[in-house]
Amino acid sequence: MSARVVAVTNLKGGAGKSTLAMLLAGALAETGSRVLVADADPQNTAVRWAANGGGFPARVEDLSAEEGRLHKALRKRLDAYDYVVIDTPPQASAPVIDSALRLARLALVPVIPSPPDLWASLRTRAAIEQARGRNPGLAARVVVNQLQLNTLLAQEVLALLPQFGIPLMAAQLKSRTAYRQAAAQGTTVRALGARAAIASLEIEALAREVRDLLG
Ligand SMILES: Nc1ncnc2c1ncn2[C@@H]1O[C@H](COP(=O)(O)OP(=O)(O)OP(=O)(O)O)[C@@H](O)[C@H]1O
Ligand SMILES: [Mg+2]
Repeated sequence: MSARVVAVTNLKGGAGKSTLAMLLAGALAETGSRVLVADADPQNTAVRWAANGGGFPARVEDLSAEEGRLHKALRKRLDAYDYVVIDTPPQASAPVIDSALRLARLALVPVIPSPPDLWASLRTRAAIEQARGRNPGLAARVVVNQLQLNTLLAQEVLALLPQFGIPLMAAQLKSRTAYRQAAAQGTTVRALGARAAIASLEIEALAREVRDLLG
């Protein structure tokens, strides 16, 4: 069967696209799926992450030169994988974003619950709506990232998220050093062992929800 494609996108820089893409890809691969991370961002965060330690369980490739041809380059490869996770650059209207959203079944939009991040993310929603012209089956979900539940502001901003027009994933990513450590060591949170047990559960829940969404 052809791979299910997930595009992780948000024009806001630093929202957590690469972190979410790599944590999700790692968790999907650890349950035995064949996973490709298509790094479509010239910053190559995903490629650097995987190169940092060795042994990252998903294949990670630099496809940033493909730009608007990304969907064509990936289409030929879909049979070899169960999941393709595309990490996109922080842009809204760019050929590479159009290309990623053309192929994707699911767009994941990481959003930090802070007002400027929310405002910026509105343009990401517009890009997803536009992509549905060519890809009507495209589903989209907001993934709350860097959550600090104990702050009143985070609660206030979270309350605004449903107005966004993109449904929220039940799984949320809290602000955790384990996620930075996984990048530093070129690995998954699960590979960090017992000290990252809670982070690992958080990511497994995310991966399960994505699997269920994609059928
Ligand atoms: N849940 C989290 N907990 C702790 N740190 C996080 C979390 N999510 C992201 N970060 C950190 O925030 C920074 C930005 O994350 P990341 O690089 O994933 O964002 P991005 O959206 O891919 O950025 P860009 O737009 O530049 O591609 C990184 O230093 C990353 O380690
Ligand atoms: Mg990135």
